[in-house]
Amino acid sequence: MTNLDHGATTVSSRALNALLDSWRASSAPGYLALADRIRLLVLDGRLPVGTRLPSERDLCAHLGVSRTTVASAYAALRDSGHVDSVRGSGSVVRLPARASVPRPTTTEGLLDLTKAALPAVDGIAEAAQRAAGRLGAYLDDSGYDPVGRPVLREAIAERYRRRGLATSADQIVVTLGAQHAIALLARVLVSRGDRAVVEAPGYPHAFEALRGAGARLVPVSVTVDDGWDEASLMQALRRTSPPVAYLMPDFHNPTGATMPAEQRVRVLEAAAAEGTVVIADETMAEMAIDDRRDAPRPMAAYGRAVSIGSVGKSLWGGLRIGWIRAERPLVDRLVRARSAGDLGTPVLEQLVVAELLGDFDRVLEARAGHLRRGRDRVVRGLREQFPSWQVPSPAGGLTTWVGLGAPVSSQLTLAARREGLLLAAGPVFGVDGAFERFVRVPFSYADSDTDRALAALRAAWDGIDGVQAPASPLLAEVV
Ligand SMILES: Cc1ncc(COP(=O)(O)O)c(C=O)c1O
Repeated sequence: MTNLDHGATTVSSRALNALLDSWRASSAPGYLALADRIRLLVLDGRLPVGTRLPSERDLCAHLGVSRTTVASAYAALRDSGHVDSVRGSGSVVRLPARASVPRPTTTEGLLDLTKAALPAVDGIAEAAQRAAGRLGAYLDDSGYDPVGRPVLREAIAERYRRRGLATSADQIVVTLGAQHAIALLARVLVSRGDRAVVEAPGYPHAFEALRGAGARLVPVSVTVDDGWDEASLMQALRRTSPPVAYLMPDFHNPTGATMPAEQRVRVLEAAAAEGTVVIADETMAEMAIDDRRDAPRPMAAYGRAVSIGSVGKSLWGGLRIGWIRAERPLVDRLVRARSAGDLGTPVLEQLVVAELLGDFDRVLEARAGHLRRGRDRVVRGLREQFPSWQVPSPAGGLTTWVGLGAPVSSQLTLAARREGLLLAAGPVFGVDGAFERFVRVPFSYADSDTDRALAALRAAWDGIDGVQAPASPLLAEVV
């Protein structure tokens, strides 16, 4: 059972026509070719689950085909479980129930590349020693508070100022990593039954946190090549007036897309008009690999947005330090709400991060060098070994969102597991599945792990059934 949010967004005939692209090129009967192309858009998340399709009458007029062609295509989609007919709502996109791929209970002996993670930067142990030397000054009070130590809040504020966004220390709440920040914001801003706009594909633990707070998710498509589907995003905001929209504007996880500055302005304006709080998860923002001199500033430099940051990628996930940047009234609400879940962030880790933020540009340069080598090795290896795959080379972040050319991601990751490699299949990043034609491959790991992963993928790909014969032969024509 999917948690369909019926009627959240509607795709117009004109927009669908643009997405359908060259569907007529197929040699199949018209209605089957049309159904197949729409099915592909559903499987890839370009038409997110819950999207309402145009009426048959409207679509046939737009496409210049007979009403029977469209009606038969919709019927074929209903039969295959990709469309639901909902009384009063017309034809709504859904995904057929699929067998989920269980996570193994133990990862011992397996190479686990399901996380986009990095080893600690050089110099953490030394910074921890220096921080321990300063700890004496903090031992006289309770040692915990819900907002963070002034020295770290000021260092984080200074980092925003250097990135072109005026910020004072009292706008910062230090959290236990970015995930905690997402969950805390969800708890404060979302009430049961509220809508929350999210990206598809997107960050699955954010989906969990928002759902945990009672949100019904309204997915909006993001792709490697075209970034955010702005028309759908605007429509989702207008139609649902959600209290929150959760976006990753920089090196979006998993596609690697970055939202251009002008689009940030338009999105924030549209959100403000609906009273929607945009939560900009900027966990990846500082993880540029290539030159970022023209990179956009933090989202909140372009309008009203709440920012989430973390040193989980830049320094080390093991420190568990993240933060929220917000206006003072929201900071106060967050601090009041926090004690229901935790009472504060450990002092020593905060002092370690404050030490390293002082030398952050050098740290980031070293990170970029590591990621550049990893990216180039993974991208080259995948392109050489799998010429039929689409392997993007992102300008930042820790992963590449690989197009497999066939809807076999779950099959591939299961086969990879048998070869000792754990990878996150594409559907993990969808709100209700989809993305079976994609797999996320991290490039943040050591060369030896990368080489082992490439070999495992080779064996897995050679071993799986169905690559040569995808479920629907028609689908093969259009992918
Ligand atoms: C987009 C995004 N947000 C949040 C997180 C969680 O970060 P943290 O380790 O700081 O909790 C991650 C980690 O992968 C992420 O990719």
